[in-house]
Amino acid sequence: MPGSDGCVAVAHPNIALVKYWGKRDEDLVLPCADSLSMTLDVFPTTTEIRLVDCQAQDVVIVDGAVDRGATARRITGFLDLVRERAGRSEAAVVATRNTVPVGAGLASSASGFAALALAAASAYGLPVEPVELSRLARRGSGSAARSIFGGFAIWHAGAPDAPDPDLASYAEPLAKTTLDLALVAALLETGPKPVSSREAMRRTVKTSPLFSDWLGMARGDCTVMREALARGDIATVGAIAERNALGMHQTMESAVPPVHYRTPASHRVLEEVHRMRAHGLQAWATMDAGPNVKVLCASDDAERVACVLRQLSGCVAVVARSGPGATLDKTVR
Ligand code: DP6
Repeated sequence: MPGSDGCVAVAHPNIALVKYWGKRDEDLVLPCADSLSMTLDVFPTTTEIRLVDCQAQDVVIVDGAVDRGATARRITGFLDLVRERAGRSEAAVVATRNTVPVGAGLASSASGFAALALAAASAYGLPVEPVELSRLARRGSGSAARSIFGGFAIWHAGAPDAPDPDLASYAEPLAKTTLDLALVAALLETGPKPVSSREAMRRTVKTSPLFSDWLGMARGDCTVMREALARGDIATVGAIAERNALGMHQTMESAVPPVHYRTPASHRVLEEVHRMRAHGLQAWATMDAGPNVKVLCASDDAERVACVLRQLSGCVAVVARSGPGATLDKTVR
């Protein structure tokens, strides 16, 4: 690639224990409520950016192939924001590699925009201080704000009447907990989802009669979840995470038209998780905008949980633990 030095960033997906579901400002990507997550140690995204003086337009390469569709437009839109902030105008070549299937509700946009934010900020000379970076990543995809940090992170919605709402909405790491949590991803389908999470979220906010109840629950859940994490109370963490995820799915399923990400295979995993609990194995389910189920449990129980899930037909189980925040990998010269 001709042009300047490249910047390479790596970021991991995060799974929310208290979900972000609903924006109060679509342009600034401001959420209606705080959310809280664990960054994983699997499925990283690696993104390289090179600035190219001699080229009019950005080139976006996703998993080795040039993209000219919606992904490229979203990345270019994000780079426009970075260029505006940096007072720069060079186009870029962006090469991004995912190790997680894109669009299947496995948080690829979180790792994707966290890596892009870090790589782009360093390439165009913006600050790479993590809290500031979380604000920038948020503009690409809300959940990406949390993937800037390793371990557990909270994303603050910010007060709606804050003098600068963009400044007020950022992520930060939570204090260390004694809890050694694992998350077993039960991969059922990895194709792109029928409705994007962005559209599903918008539809839910506009039309779901359950949305305001959901918001009230999510706000309370965040407070209880923080306290439970601080005292290492896995039973409360698991119970709140499961209830919160199922509540989120109920709101979107009551939207008009409804959004159904849960499939018969998802329900089979959810039932299996309930069965494990009935047999004394502490395990709780969470789900995002897709059919795959993630099972929370103590790190020591993760292999047992994975073994049970692998017995379900068509289910690939991947054990994940707490992972690192976004890092600048190296400067390619
Ligand atoms: C279900 O961050 O993908 O994973 O801000 O529109 O890009 P946009 O949405 P996105 O939403 C993720 C929602 C979720 C829950 C969560 O991660 O908190």
